[in-house]
Amino acid sequence: MDNLLNDLSGSEWLYWTNTIYPTNYPLDVTHQLRKTHGAIKPPELMADIIRFFTKKGELVLDPFAGVGSTLLGAALTERKAVGFELNNKWVQVYREIQRKFSIGKHGIQAGVEGRRIQGIMVHGDCLHELSELPQERVEAIITDPPYGCRHRVEFNRETNFSMFNPGEEKDFGNLPDYKGYLQKMGEFGREAYRVLKRHRYLVLLIGDRYQNSEYMPLSYKVAEVIRAQGFKWKGLKIWWNQSTQRPLKPYAIKRCYVPNITHQNILIFRKE
Ligand SMILES: C[S@@+](CC[C@H](N)C(=O)[O-])C[C@H]1O[C@@H](n2cnc3c(N)ncnc32)[C@H](O)[C@@H]1O
Repeated sequence: MDNLLNDLSGSEWLYWTNTIYPTNYPLDVTHQLRKTHGAIKPPELMADIIRFFTKKGELVLDPFAGVGSTLLGAALTERKAVGFELNNKWVQVYREIQRKFSIGKHGIQAGVEGRRIQGIMVHGDCLHELSELPQERVEAIITDPPYGCRHRVEFNRETNFSMFNPGEEKDFGNLPDYKGYLQKMGEFGREAYRVLKRHRYLVLLIGDRYQNSEYMPLSYKVAEVIRAQGFKWKGLKIWWNQSTQRPLKPYAIKRCYVPNITHQNILIFRKE
């Protein structure tokens, strides 16, 4: 039977449909450079996702590209890739990676002896950059947007999170409230729908939050605004990265239940 979506065998396809998705990737050679960002994904994780939703040679777009983990995943799997990133600092980190690393037999390696890391990183606001793309241009959109609003206030207290862009109103993570954030994610979804080819996929990595003494299912709220743009919500994978698991924090211990949110959601949407 012809495979309409990817280059996987039937058993590889079946394996990947499991909704629970634990990984344990060791840190890769670009980690030292990429970790300055503070919210990065393993390139191998992105490569796995790309392998499922595209064939070799197809074009992957990451509109919230950060330091380029999706682009590295595309390089590992021999797909073309374009990233949009608002903060020039992260664009420059990716370009430095392109100058200092290449793809060898065993993945990303130091030096330029191997295959060149090709992805194109564009410095700009994704809403603007998306609007410049022609309709039905890309085979997959795979991205890890900011997880909600007020990143500066809410994350920086307790982590070394440095991905937000202070004072930058175009940054999806800087909006004053969730209403504004979800509205922007809706605008993003509309453009994503326009530039994606028919029958192809938008994949979003989103974490849930706990705030004001309540679980906040951000991923479900984002899924609703994305569905409102015409996408069908096909599934969710619960991703847990064992290798970066921090010790559990004793929030409200012996008083009331507060979760340690250690997973992220991988939301899968199709343009039908
Ligand atoms: C969660 S990070 C992505 C990290 C990426 N997955 C990686 O591993 O490098 C989200 C990124 O979106 C960027 N961003 C926020 N608003 C944006 C916008 N309007 N256009 C483009 N990028 C934006 C932020 O600067 C941040 O780097």
